[in-house]
Amino acid sequence: MYRIESKINPASKEFRESEASYLELLRQHRSLVMSVIQGAPAAAVSKHKERGKLLARERIDLLVDANTPFLELSPMAAYGLYNSEFPSAGIITGIGVIHGHESIIIANDATVKGGTYIEQTIKKHVRAQEIAMENHLPCVYMVDSGGVFLPEQAKVFPDKYDFGRFFFNQARMSAAGIPQIAVVMGSCTAGGAYVPAMSDETIIVRNQGTIFIGGPPLVKAATGEEVTAEDLGGADVHTSISGVADHMAENDRHAIQICRDIFSTLKRPERQFLELASIEEPFYDPSEIYGIAPLDLRKPVDSREIIARMVDGSRFHEFKARYAPTLVTGFAHIIGFPVGILANNGVLFSETALKGAHFIELCTSRNVPILFLQNITGFIVGKEYERRGIARDGAKLVHAVANARVPKFTVVFGGSFGAGNYAMAGRAYQPRLLFMWPNSKISVMGGEQAAGVLITVKEEQLKAKGKTLSPADRDEMLSSILKKYEEEGSAYYSTARLWDDGIIDPVDTRKIIAMGISASMNKKWEETRYGVFRM
Ligand code: COA
Repeated sequence: MYRIESKINPASKEFRESEASYLELLRQHRSLVMSVIQGAPAAAVSKHKERGKLLARERIDLLVDANTPFLELSPMAAYGLYNSEFPSAGIITGIGVIHGHESIIIANDATVKGGTYIEQTIKKHVRAQEIAMENHLPCVYMVDSGGVFLPEQAKVFPDKYDFGRFFFNQARMSAAGIPQIAVVMGSCTAGGAYVPAMSDETIIVRNQGTIFIGGPPLVKAATGEEVTAEDLGGADVHTSISGVADHMAENDRHAIQICRDIFSTLKRPERQFLELASIEEPFYDPSEIYGIAPLDLRKPVDSREIIARMVDGSRFHEFKARYAPTLVTGFAHIIGFPVGILANNGVLFSETALKGAHFIELCTSRNVPILFLQNITGFIVGKEYERRGIARDGAKLVHAVANARVPKFTVVFGGSFGAGNYAMAGRAYQPRLLFMWPNSKISVMGGEQAAGVLITVKEEQLKAKGKTLSPADRDEMLSSILKKYEEEGSAYYSTARLWDDGIIDPVDTRKIIAMGISASMNKKWEETRYGVFRM
Protein backbone atom coordinates (compact mmCIF):
# COMPACT_ATOMS: atom_id res chain seq x y z
CA MET A 1 0.00 0.00 0.00
CA TYR A 2 1.23 3.49 -0.83
CA ARG A 3 2.07 5.97 1.87
CA ILE A 4 0.09 9.21 1.72
CA GLU A 5 2.35 12.12 0.78
CA SER A 6 1.53 14.94 3.19
CA LYS A 7 1.52 18.45 1.78
CA ILE A 8 1.46 20.06 5.22
CA ASN A 9 4.47 21.90 6.58
CA PRO A 10 4.39 21.65 10.38
CA ALA A 11 7.04 24.36 10.60
CA SER A 12 4.85 26.94 8.83
CA LYS A 13 3.43 29.92 10.71
CA GLU A 14 -0.12 28.98 9.71
CA PHE A 15 0.30 25.45 11.08
CA ARG A 16 1.84 26.68 14.34
CA GLU A 17 -0.99 29.14 14.90
CA SER A 18 -3.69 26.53 14.25
CA GLU A 19 -1.91 24.09 16.52
CA ALA A 20 -1.68 26.65 19.35
CA SER A 21 -5.40 27.41 19.05
CA TYR A 22 -6.26 23.71 19.04
CA LEU A 23 -4.10 22.99 22.07
CA GLU A 24 -5.90 25.78 23.93
CA LEU A 25 -9.25 24.20 22.99
CA LEU A 26 -7.98 20.84 24.20
CA ARG A 27 -6.74 22.37 27.47
CA GLN A 28 -10.23 23.76 28.08
CA HIS A 29 -11.75 20.41 27.15
CA ARG A 30 -9.55 18.50 29.59
CA SER A 31 -10.27 20.91 32.41
CA LEU A 32 -14.03 20.56 31.72
CA VAL A 33 -13.76 16.76 31.83
CA MET A 34 -11.77 16.94 35.08
CA SER A 35 -14.34 19.28 36.62
CA VAL A 36 -17.08 16.81 35.71
CA ILE A 37 -15.15 13.81 37.03
CA GLN A 38 -14.65 15.65 40.32
CA GLY A 39 -18.08 17.22 40.12
CA ALA A 40 -19.95 15.44 42.93
CA PRO A 41 -20.55 17.50 46.09
CA ALA A 42 -17.63 17.15 48.55
CA ALA A 43 -20.03 16.26 51.41
CA ALA A 44 -21.56 13.40 49.41
CA VAL A 45 -18.10 12.08 48.53
CA SER A 46 -16.92 12.12 52.18
CA LYS A 47 -20.16 10.49 53.37
CA HIS A 48 -19.65 7.77 50.75
CA LYS A 49 -16.02 7.17 51.76
CA GLU A 50 -16.81 7.22 55.49
CA ARG A 51 -19.12 4.29 54.82
CA GLY A 52 -16.07 2.36 53.61
CA LYS A 53 -17.23 2.47 49.98
CA LEU A 54 -15.04 3.04 46.95
CA LEU A 55 -16.00 5.65 44.35
CA ALA A 56 -17.55 4.35 41.11
CA ARG A 57 -14.41 4.96 39.01
CA GLU A 58 -12.21 3.37 41.71
CA ARG A 59 -14.42 0.27 41.59
CA ILE A 60 -14.02 0.07 37.83
CA ASP A 61 -10.23 0.49 38.12
CA LEU A 62 -10.09 -2.56 40.37
CA LEU A 63 -12.47 -4.60 38.23
CA VAL A 64 -10.61 -4.35 34.93
CA ASP A 65 -7.40 -6.25 34.17
CA ALA A 66 -4.21 -4.47 35.16
CA ASN A 67 -2.60 -2.45 32.35
CA THR A 68 -5.64 -2.59 30.10
CA PRO A 69 -7.49 0.54 28.98
CA PHE A 70 -11.02 1.40 30.05
CA LEU A 71 -12.91 3.23 27.32
CA GLU A 72 -15.25 5.47 29.28
CA LEU A 73 -18.35 6.47 27.31
CA SER A 74 -20.08 9.84 27.48
CA PRO A 75 -18.36 11.24 30.59
CA MET A 76 -19.92 14.64 29.79
CA ALA A 77 -23.51 13.33 29.74
CA ALA A 78 -25.99 15.80 31.28
CA TYR A 79 -23.32 18.53 31.18
CA GLY A 80 -25.03 21.91 31.49
CA LEU A 81 -28.39 20.30 32.29
CA TYR A 82 -30.14 20.36 35.70
CA ASN A 83 -27.76 23.10 36.85
CA SER A 84 -24.92 20.64 36.15
CA GLU A 85 -25.93 18.80 39.36
CA PHE A 86 -25.62 15.41 37.66
CA PRO A 87 -21.96 15.06 36.63
CA SER A 88 -21.63 12.25 34.05
CA ALA A 89 -25.41 11.84 34.56
CA GLY A 90 -24.60 9.98 37.80
CA ILE A 91 -23.47 6.82 36.05
CA ILE A 92 -20.16 5.59 34.64
CA THR A 93 -20.27 3.31 31.60
CA GLY A 94 -17.64 1.93 29.31
CA ILE A 95 -15.79 -0.96 27.73
CA GLY A 96 -13.12 -2.69 29.81
CA VAL A 97 -11.34 -6.04 29.87
CA ILE A 98 -12.20 -8.38 32.78
CA HIS A 99 -10.26 -11.61 33.00
CA GLY A 100 -9.52 -11.33 29.31
CA HIS A 101 -13.16 -10.66 28.31
CA GLU A 102 -14.03 -7.36 26.66
CA SER A 103 -17.04 -6.28 28.71
CA ILE A 104 -19.49 -3.49 29.33
CA ILE A 105 -19.39 -1.96 32.80
CA ILE A 106 -22.28 0.10 34.15
CA ALA A 107 -21.59 1.65 37.56
CA ASN A 108 -23.92 3.98 39.48
CA ASP A 109 -22.30 6.97 41.13
CA ALA A 110 -24.04 7.18 44.50
CA THR A 111 -22.34 10.52 45.26
CA VAL A 112 -24.55 12.13 42.59
CA LYS A 113 -28.07 12.46 44.05
CA GLY A 114 -27.92 8.99 45.53
CA GLY A 115 -27.13 7.45 42.10
CA THR A 116 -30.67 8.20 40.93
CA TYR A 117 -31.73 8.22 37.28
CA ILE A 118 -32.64 11.29 35.24
CA GLU A 119 -33.35 11.12 31.50
CA GLN A 120 -29.66 11.13 30.51
CA THR A 121 -28.78 8.48 33.10
CA ILE A 122 -31.36 6.20 31.52
CA LYS A 123 -30.12 6.95 28.01
CA LYS A 124 -26.54 6.21 29.07
CA HIS A 125 -27.48 2.92 30.75
CA VAL A 126 -29.56 1.77 27.75
CA ARG A 127 -26.87 2.86 25.28
CA ALA A 128 -24.24 0.81 27.15
CA GLN A 129 -26.55 -2.21 27.02
CA GLU A 130 -27.09 -1.62 23.29
CA ILE A 131 -23.31 -1.71 22.74
CA ALA A 132 -23.18 -4.95 24.75
CA MET A 133 -25.93 -6.49 22.60
CA GLU A 134 -24.42 -5.44 19.27
CA ASN A 135 -20.96 -6.73 20.20
CA HIS A 136 -21.90 -9.65 22.46
CA LEU A 137 -20.09 -8.19 25.49
CA PRO A 138 -20.78 -9.49 29.02
CA CYS A 139 -22.29 -6.84 31.33
CA VAL A 140 -21.35 -5.97 34.89
CA TYR A 141 -23.77 -3.75 36.80
CA MET A 142 -22.15 -2.12 39.87
CA VAL A 143 -25.35 -1.09 41.58
CA ASP A 144 -25.54 1.76 44.08
CA SER A 145 -28.69 3.70 43.27
CA GLY A 146 -31.89 5.14 44.70
CA GLY A 147 -33.65 4.27 41.41
CA VAL A 148 -35.74 6.83 39.60
CA PHE A 149 -35.04 10.52 40.40
CA LEU A 150 -38.60 10.97 41.56
CA PRO A 151 -39.22 14.60 40.51
CA GLU A 152 -38.47 13.54 36.89
CA GLN A 153 -40.51 10.31 36.88
CA ALA A 154 -42.48 11.23 33.76
CA LYS A 155 -39.22 11.47 31.78
CA VAL A 156 -37.72 8.22 32.98
CA PHE A 157 -40.40 5.71 33.81
CA PRO A 158 -42.98 4.89 31.16
CA ASP A 159 -41.57 5.02 27.64
CA LYS A 160 -40.08 2.26 25.48
CA TYR A 161 -36.44 3.13 26.16
CA ASP A 162 -36.98 4.16 29.81
CA PHE A 163 -36.23 2.36 33.07
CA GLY A 164 -38.13 -0.81 32.16
CA ARG A 165 -35.91 -1.32 29.13
CA PHE A 166 -32.96 -2.23 31.43
CA PHE A 167 -34.61 -5.47 32.48
CA PHE A 168 -35.99 -6.29 29.05
CA ASN A 169 -32.43 -5.95 27.72
CA GLN A 170 -31.05 -8.10 30.53
CA ALA A 171 -33.53 -10.87 29.75
CA ARG A 172 -32.80 -10.69 26.02
CA MET A 173 -29.04 -10.65 26.55
CA SER A 174 -29.14 -13.54 28.98
CA ALA A 175 -31.15 -15.50 26.42
CA ALA A 176 -28.57 -14.65 23.76
CA GLY A 177 -25.80 -16.03 25.99
CA ILE A 178 -24.42 -12.62 26.96
CA PRO A 179 -23.51 -12.92 30.67
CA GLN A 180 -25.25 -10.52 33.06
CA ILE A 181 -23.51 -10.04 36.40
CA ALA A 182 -24.65 -7.67 39.19
CA VAL A 183 -22.55 -6.44 42.09
CA VAL A 184 -24.81 -4.78 44.66
CA MET A 185 -22.63 -2.25 46.47
CA GLY A 186 -25.33 0.04 47.84
CA SER A 187 -28.98 0.73 47.48
CA CYS A 188 -31.03 -1.15 44.91
CA THR A 189 -34.58 0.00 45.39
CA ALA A 190 -37.96 -0.54 43.74
CA GLY A 191 -37.54 -1.14 39.96
CA GLY A 192 -33.78 -1.08 40.54
CA ALA A 193 -34.12 -4.32 42.52
CA TYR A 194 -34.65 -6.06 39.21
CA VAL A 195 -31.07 -5.35 38.09
CA PRO A 196 -29.63 -8.01 40.43
CA ALA A 197 -32.77 -10.13 40.26
CA MET A 198 -32.56 -10.30 36.45
CA SER A 199 -28.83 -11.05 36.41
CA ASP A 200 -27.31 -14.49 35.79
CA GLU A 201 -25.19 -14.21 38.92
CA THR A 202 -25.30 -11.64 41.72
CA ILE A 203 -22.94 -10.52 44.47
CA ILE A 204 -23.96 -8.33 47.41
CA VAL A 205 -21.79 -6.53 49.96
CA ARG A 206 -22.51 -7.22 53.66
CA ASN A 207 -23.89 -4.32 55.73
CA GLN A 208 -23.84 -2.14 52.63
CA GLY A 209 -25.86 -3.55 49.75
CA THR A 210 -29.65 -3.70 49.95
CA ILE A 211 -32.23 -5.02 47.53
CA PHE A 212 -35.93 -4.41 48.03
CA ILE A 213 -39.04 -3.65 46.01
CA GLY A 214 -40.18 -1.14 48.67
CA GLY A 215 -37.80 0.47 51.19
CA PRO A 216 -38.49 0.77 54.95
CA PRO A 217 -40.37 4.11 54.67
CA LEU A 218 -42.69 2.68 52.01
CA VAL A 219 -43.26 -0.53 54.00
CA LYS A 220 -44.15 1.54 57.06
CA ALA A 221 -46.54 3.73 55.10
CA ALA A 222 -48.15 0.76 53.33
CA THR A 223 -48.41 -1.82 56.13
CA GLY A 224 -47.28 -0.13 59.34
CA GLU A 225 -44.49 -2.69 59.67
CA GLU A 226 -41.23 -1.24 61.06
CA VAL A 227 -38.12 -2.86 59.68
CA THR A 228 -34.48 -1.87 59.13
CA ALA A 229 -33.03 -1.80 55.61
CA GLU A 230 -30.61 -4.61 56.49
CA ASP A 231 -33.41 -6.81 57.83
CA LEU A 232 -35.62 -6.07 54.87
CA GLY A 233 -33.13 -6.70 52.08
CA GLY A 234 -29.51 -6.86 53.25
CA ALA A 235 -26.80 -9.26 52.12
CA ASP A 236 -27.45 -11.79 54.87
CA VAL A 237 -31.17 -12.00 54.03
CA HIS A 238 -30.62 -12.31 50.31
CA THR A 239 -27.77 -14.82 50.35
CA SER A 240 -29.18 -17.09 53.07
CA ILE A 241 -32.99 -16.67 53.08
CA SER A 242 -34.46 -15.22 49.87
CA GLY A 243 -31.80 -16.43 47.41
CA VAL A 244 -32.11 -13.17 45.44
CA ALA A 245 -28.28 -12.89 45.56
CA ASP A 246 -25.69 -15.65 45.19
CA HIS A 247 -22.52 -14.43 46.87
CA MET A 248 -21.91 -12.34 49.98
CA ALA A 249 -18.84 -10.08 49.97
CA GLU A 250 -17.23 -8.44 52.98
CA ASN A 251 -16.55 -5.14 51.21
CA ASP A 252 -16.18 -3.53 47.76
CA ARG A 253 -12.77 -5.07 47.04
CA HIS A 254 -13.96 -8.53 47.99
CA ALA A 255 -17.07 -8.13 45.80
CA ILE A 256 -14.90 -7.10 42.86
CA GLN A 257 -12.65 -10.13 43.37
CA ILE A 258 -15.70 -12.42 43.36
CA CYS A 259 -16.88 -10.75 40.15
CA ARG A 260 -13.50 -11.39 38.53
CA ASP A 261 -13.69 -15.00 39.69
CA ILE A 262 -17.08 -15.33 37.99
CA PHE A 263 -15.50 -14.02 34.79
CA SER A 264 -12.88 -16.78 34.99
CA THR A 265 -15.72 -19.28 34.53
CA LEU A 266 -17.31 -17.64 31.46
CA LYS A 267 -17.33 -19.27 28.07
CA ARG A 268 -15.31 -17.54 25.34
CA PRO A 269 -17.52 -16.34 22.48
CA GLU A 270 -16.96 -17.53 18.93
CA ARG A 271 -15.12 -14.60 17.41
CA GLN A 272 -15.43 -13.06 13.98
CA PHE A 273 -12.38 -13.88 11.87
CA LEU A 274 -10.46 -10.90 10.59
CA GLU A 275 -7.06 -11.02 8.96
CA LEU A 276 -4.82 -8.74 11.01
CA ALA A 277 -1.63 -7.08 9.82
CA SER A 278 1.42 -6.35 11.95
CA ILE A 279 1.04 -3.09 13.83
CA GLU A 280 2.81 0.03 12.63
CA GLU A 281 2.73 3.57 14.01
CA PRO A 282 1.60 6.17 11.47
CA PHE A 283 4.54 7.56 9.47
CA TYR A 284 3.28 11.11 10.16
CA ASP A 285 3.03 12.13 13.82
CA PRO A 286 -0.64 11.85 14.99
CA SER A 287 -0.19 14.93 17.19
CA GLU A 288 0.16 16.99 14.00
CA ILE A 289 -3.62 16.62 13.74
CA TYR A 290 -3.79 19.51 16.22
CA GLY A 291 -2.44 21.82 13.54
CA ILE A 292 -4.76 20.41 10.85
CA ALA A 293 -8.21 19.78 12.42
CA PRO A 294 -10.66 22.47 11.30
CA LEU A 295 -11.35 25.07 13.99
CA ASP A 296 -13.02 27.25 11.39
CA LEU A 297 -15.37 24.97 9.48
CA ARG A 298 -15.31 27.25 6.44
CA LYS A 299 -11.64 26.40 5.96
CA PRO A 300 -11.30 23.30 3.78
CA VAL A 301 -9.16 20.46 5.14
CA ASP A 302 -7.85 17.66 2.95
CA SER A 303 -9.05 14.64 4.91
CA ARG A 304 -6.11 12.59 3.57
CA GLU A 305 -3.95 14.69 5.92
CA ILE A 306 -6.07 13.43 8.85
CA ILE A 307 -6.05 9.83 7.57
CA ALA A 308 -2.25 9.98 7.17
CA ARG A 309 -1.95 10.66 10.91
CA MET A 310 -4.40 7.95 11.95
CA VAL A 311 -3.57 4.80 10.00
CA ASP A 312 -0.68 2.33 10.22
CA GLY A 313 2.40 3.50 8.33
CA SER A 314 0.22 6.34 6.92
CA ARG A 315 -0.50 3.81 4.16
CA PHE A 316 -3.75 4.14 2.26
CA HIS A 317 -5.02 2.18 -0.72
CA GLU A 318 -7.19 4.91 -2.15
CA PHE A 319 -10.21 3.90 -4.22
CA LYS A 320 -11.29 6.11 -7.16
CA ALA A 321 -8.77 8.77 -6.18
CA ARG A 322 -9.38 10.71 -9.42
CA TYR A 323 -13.17 10.52 -9.34
CA ALA A 324 -15.63 12.51 -7.18
CA PRO A 325 -12.88 14.11 -5.08
CA THR A 326 -15.18 15.48 -2.36
CA LEU A 327 -15.32 12.04 -0.75
CA VAL A 328 -12.05 10.23 -0.04
CA THR A 329 -12.44 6.44 0.08
CA GLY A 330 -9.92 3.67 0.60
CA PHE A 331 -8.51 0.81 2.66
CA ALA A 332 -5.98 1.02 5.47
CA HIS A 333 -5.05 -0.62 8.80
CA ILE A 334 -5.47 0.81 12.27
CA ILE A 335 -3.34 -0.93 14.91
CA GLY A 336 -3.30 -3.95 12.60
CA PHE A 337 -7.09 -4.06 12.01
CA PRO A 338 -8.23 -3.66 8.40
CA VAL A 339 -10.60 -0.78 7.84
CA GLY A 340 -12.40 0.90 4.93
CA ILE A 341 -12.48 4.68 5.30
CA LEU A 342 -14.93 7.22 3.90
CA ALA A 343 -13.85 10.78 4.66
CA ASN A 344 -15.50 13.97 3.50
CA ASN A 345 -13.51 16.42 1.43
CA GLY A 346 -16.29 18.85 0.53
CA VAL A 347 -19.97 18.84 -0.40
CA LEU A 348 -21.67 15.61 -1.54
CA PHE A 349 -22.55 15.52 -5.26
CA SER A 350 -24.36 12.77 -7.20
CA GLU A 351 -21.12 11.12 -8.29
CA THR A 352 -19.77 11.38 -4.72
CA ALA A 353 -22.77 9.46 -3.43
CA LEU A 354 -22.30 6.77 -6.10
CA LYS A 355 -18.61 6.44 -5.26
CA GLY A 356 -19.47 6.13 -1.54
CA ALA A 357 -22.15 3.48 -2.16
CA HIS A 358 -19.77 1.52 -4.42
CA PHE A 359 -17.03 1.64 -1.79
CA ILE A 360 -19.41 0.47 0.96
CA GLU A 361 -20.31 -2.51 -1.25
CA LEU A 362 -16.60 -3.31 -1.46
CA CYS A 363 -16.28 -3.20 2.34
CA THR A 364 -19.32 -5.37 2.97
CA SER A 365 -18.38 -7.91 0.30
CA ARG A 366 -14.85 -8.16 1.79
CA ASN A 367 -16.07 -8.09 5.40
CA VAL A 368 -14.03 -5.04 6.34
CA PRO A 369 -15.22 -2.66 9.12
CA ILE A 370 -15.95 0.89 7.99
CA LEU A 371 -14.76 4.16 9.50
CA PHE A 372 -16.67 7.31 8.57
CA LEU A 373 -14.77 10.55 9.07
CA GLN A 374 -17.37 13.30 9.00
CA ASN A 375 -16.79 16.89 8.00
CA ILE A 376 -19.83 17.54 5.91
CA THR A 377 -22.01 20.54 5.17
CA GLY A 378 -24.52 18.39 3.28
CA PHE A 379 -25.58 17.53 -0.24
CA ILE A 380 -25.25 20.04 -3.06
CA VAL A 381 -28.35 22.17 -3.70
CA GLY A 382 -29.64 23.91 -6.83
CA LYS A 383 -31.78 23.45 -9.92
CA GLU A 384 -29.12 21.68 -11.97
CA TYR A 385 -28.40 19.12 -9.26
CA GLU A 386 -32.06 18.41 -8.46
CA ARG A 387 -32.68 17.76 -12.17
CA ARG A 388 -29.77 15.37 -12.29
CA GLY A 389 -31.32 13.49 -9.37
CA ILE A 390 -29.17 14.35 -6.35
CA ALA A 391 -31.97 13.04 -4.07
CA ARG A 392 -31.97 9.69 -5.90
CA ASP A 393 -28.18 9.31 -5.80
CA GLY A 394 -27.95 10.50 -2.22
CA ALA A 395 -30.54 7.86 -1.35
CA LYS A 396 -28.26 5.16 -2.78
CA LEU A 397 -25.52 6.14 -0.35
CA VAL A 398 -27.95 6.32 2.58
CA HIS A 399 -29.34 2.91 1.56
CA ALA A 400 -25.85 1.37 1.46
CA VAL A 401 -24.87 2.91 4.83
CA ALA A 402 -28.09 1.75 6.50
CA ASN A 403 -27.81 -1.82 5.24
CA ALA A 404 -24.05 -2.33 5.67
CA ARG A 405 -23.79 -4.97 8.42
CA VAL A 406 -20.05 -4.86 8.94
CA PRO A 407 -19.24 -2.81 12.07
CA LYS A 408 -19.39 0.90 11.36
CA PHE A 409 -17.61 3.60 13.36
CA THR A 410 -18.15 7.32 13.02
CA VAL A 411 -15.90 10.18 14.07
CA VAL A 412 -17.01 13.77 13.52
CA PHE A 413 -13.80 15.73 12.95
CA GLY A 414 -15.42 18.90 11.60
CA GLY A 415 -19.04 19.65 10.81
CA SER A 416 -21.96 17.25 10.70
CA PHE A 417 -24.82 18.99 8.96
CA GLY A 418 -28.06 18.03 7.24
CA ALA A 419 -28.50 14.85 5.27
CA GLY A 420 -24.70 14.62 5.16
CA ASN A 421 -24.99 13.36 8.73
CA TYR A 422 -27.21 10.50 7.53
CA ALA A 423 -25.12 9.60 4.50
CA MET A 424 -22.00 9.46 6.68
CA ALA A 425 -23.42 7.12 9.33
CA GLY A 426 -24.78 9.56 11.89
CA ARG A 427 -26.31 8.22 15.11
CA ALA A 428 -29.51 6.97 13.41
CA TYR A 429 -27.44 4.66 11.17
CA GLN A 430 -26.22 2.62 14.11
CA PRO A 431 -22.47 2.95 13.98
CA ARG A 432 -21.11 0.70 16.73
CA LEU A 433 -19.50 3.80 18.27
CA LEU A 434 -19.73 7.49 17.42
CA PHE A 435 -17.33 10.13 18.73
CA MET A 436 -16.88 13.86 18.29
CA TRP A 437 -13.69 15.90 18.37
CA PRO A 438 -13.83 18.98 20.64
CA ASN A 439 -13.86 21.34 17.64
CA SER A 440 -16.73 19.58 15.88
CA LYS A 441 -20.24 20.88 15.32
CA ILE A 442 -23.55 19.15 14.63
CA SER A 443 -26.91 20.54 13.53
CA VAL A 444 -29.48 20.29 10.76
CA MET A 445 -27.69 23.10 8.93
CA GLY A 446 -25.22 25.85 9.78
CA GLY A 447 -26.53 28.84 11.78
CA GLU A 448 -26.08 31.26 8.87
CA GLN A 449 -28.00 29.00 6.49
CA ALA A 450 -30.80 28.46 9.04
CA ALA A 451 -31.03 32.21 9.63
CA GLY A 452 -31.14 32.76 5.86
CA VAL A 453 -34.01 30.27 5.47
CA LEU A 454 -36.04 31.61 8.40
CA ILE A 455 -35.57 35.25 7.42
CA THR A 456 -36.64 34.48 3.83
CA VAL A 457 -39.76 32.66 5.09
CA LYS A 458 -40.60 35.60 7.36
CA GLU A 459 -40.07 38.14 4.55
CA GLU A 460 -42.34 36.13 2.23
CA GLN A 461 -45.07 35.98 4.91
CA LEU A 462 -44.88 39.74 5.47
CA LYS A 463 -44.78 40.45 1.73
CA ALA A 464 -48.03 38.52 1.28
CA LYS A 465 -49.59 40.91 3.83
CA GLY A 466 -48.07 43.96 2.08
CA LYS A 467 -45.52 44.50 4.85
CA THR A 468 -41.72 44.35 5.07
CA LEU A 469 -39.22 43.17 7.66
CA SER A 470 -37.50 46.17 9.24
CA PRO A 471 -33.66 46.10 9.26
CA ALA A 472 -33.73 46.15 13.09
CA ASP A 473 -36.09 43.13 13.24
CA ARG A 474 -33.98 41.37 10.64
CA ASP A 475 -30.80 41.93 12.66
CA GLU A 476 -32.54 40.78 15.83
CA MET A 477 -33.76 37.60 14.11
CA LEU A 478 -30.33 36.93 12.62
CA SER A 479 -28.45 37.29 15.89
CA SER A 480 -30.90 35.20 17.93
CA ILE A 481 -30.82 32.34 15.39
CA LEU A 482 -27.02 32.47 15.15
CA LYS A 483 -26.76 32.37 18.94
CA LYS A 484 -29.14 29.42 19.20
CA TYR A 485 -27.32 27.44 16.49
CA GLU A 486 -23.94 28.25 18.00
CA GLU A 487 -25.06 26.85 21.35
CA GLU A 488 -27.02 23.85 20.09
CA GLY A 489 -24.46 22.96 17.43
CA SER A 490 -21.60 22.53 19.88
CA ALA A 491 -20.06 19.13 20.57
CA TYR A 492 -20.82 19.72 24.28
CA TYR A 493 -24.53 20.20 23.62
CA SER A 494 -24.50 16.94 21.66
CA THR A 495 -22.55 14.91 24.18
CA ALA A 496 -24.66 16.14 27.12
CA ARG A 497 -27.69 14.64 25.36
CA LEU A 498 -26.06 11.36 24.36
CA TRP A 499 -26.19 12.02 20.62
CA ASP A 500 -22.67 10.56 20.60
CA ASP A 501 -20.53 8.29 22.78
CA GLY A 502 -18.21 11.06 23.90
CA ILE A 503 -15.82 13.82 22.91
CA ILE A 504 -12.32 12.48 22.33
CA ASP A 505 -8.82 13.83 21.91
CA PRO A 506 -8.09 13.50 18.16
CA VAL A 507 -4.83 11.70 18.90
CA ASP A 508 -6.74 8.94 20.75
CA THR A 509 -8.99 8.22 17.73
CA ARG A 510 -6.67 5.49 16.44
CA LYS A 511 -6.66 3.58 19.74
CA ILE A 512 -10.38 4.00 20.29
CA ILE A 513 -11.35 2.75 16.82
CA ALA A 514 -9.04 -0.24 17.26
CA MET A 515 -10.74 -1.03 20.60
CA GLY A 516 -14.12 -0.74 18.90
CA ILE A 517 -13.15 -3.13 16.08
CA SER A 518 -11.67 -5.59 18.56
CA ALA A 519 -14.89 -5.50 20.64
CA SER A 520 -16.99 -6.04 17.50
CA MET A 521 -15.18 -9.34 16.88
CA ASN A 522 -16.89 -10.95 19.90
CA LYS A 523 -19.82 -11.79 17.65
CA LYS A 524 -19.94 -13.04 14.06
CA TRP A 525 -21.08 -10.22 11.81
CA GLU A 526 -24.37 -10.55 10.01
CA GLU A 527 -24.43 -10.86 6.26
CA THR A 528 -25.26 -7.65 4.40
CA ARG A 529 -28.33 -7.61 2.18
CA TYR A 530 -29.23 -4.57 0.20
CA GLY A 531 -32.74 -3.71 -0.96
CA VAL A 532 -33.71 -1.69 -3.98
CA PHE A 533 -31.15 0.89 -5.06
CA ARG A 534 -33.11 3.52 -6.97
CA MET A 535 -31.38 3.72 -10.36
N1 COA B 1 -35.45 10.77 43.89
C1 COA B 1 -34.95 12.01 43.97
N2 COA B 1 -33.94 12.34 44.79
C2 COA B 1 -33.42 11.38 45.54
C3 COA B 1 -33.90 10.07 45.53
C4 COA B 1 -34.97 9.77 44.65
N3 COA B 1 -35.41 8.54 44.46
N4 COA B 1 -33.18 9.32 46.35
C5 COA B 1 -32.25 10.15 46.89
N5 COA B 1 -32.40 11.38 46.39
C6 COA B 1 -31.55 12.55 46.64
C7 COA B 1 -31.71 13.12 48.04
O1 COA B 1 -32.78 14.01 48.08
C8 COA B 1 -30.36 13.81 48.22
O2 COA B 1 -30.39 15.02 47.50
P1 COA B 1 -29.60 16.31 48.04
O3 COA B 1 -28.16 15.92 48.07
O4 COA B 1 -29.90 17.37 47.03
O5 COA B 1 -30.15 16.58 49.39
C9 COA B 1 -29.41 12.88 47.52
O6 COA B 1 -30.20 12.16 46.59
C10 COA B 1 -28.69 11.91 48.43
O7 COA B 1 -29.66 11.24 49.23
P2 COA B 1 -29.37 10.86 50.78
O8 COA B 1 -30.58 10.18 51.31
O9 COA B 1 -28.85 12.04 51.52
O10 COA B 1 -28.14 9.85 50.59
P3 COA B 1 -27.88 8.43 51.22
O11 COA B 1 -26.63 7.96 50.60
O12 COA B 1 -27.91 8.48 52.70
O13 COA B 1 -29.09 7.50 50.73
C11 COA B 1 -30.55 6.41 49.17
C12 COA B 1 -29.25 7.23 49.38
C13 COA B 1 -30.74 6.28 47.67
C14 COA B 1 -30.35 5.05 49.81
C15 COA B 1 -31.75 7.10 49.87
O14 COA B 1 -31.76 8.48 49.51
C16 COA B 1 -33.09 6.52 49.49
O15 COA B 1 -33.48 5.53 50.05
N6 COA B 1 -33.80 7.16 48.52
C17 COA B 1 -35.13 6.73 48.13
C18 COA B 1 -35.07 5.54 47.20
C19 COA B 1 -36.42 5.16 46.65
O16 COA B 1 -37.34 4.91 47.38
N7 COA B 1 -36.49 5.14 45.33
C20 COA B 1 -37.67 4.74 44.66
C21 COA B 1 -37.43 5.06 43.22
S1 COA B 1 -38.41 4.10 42.15
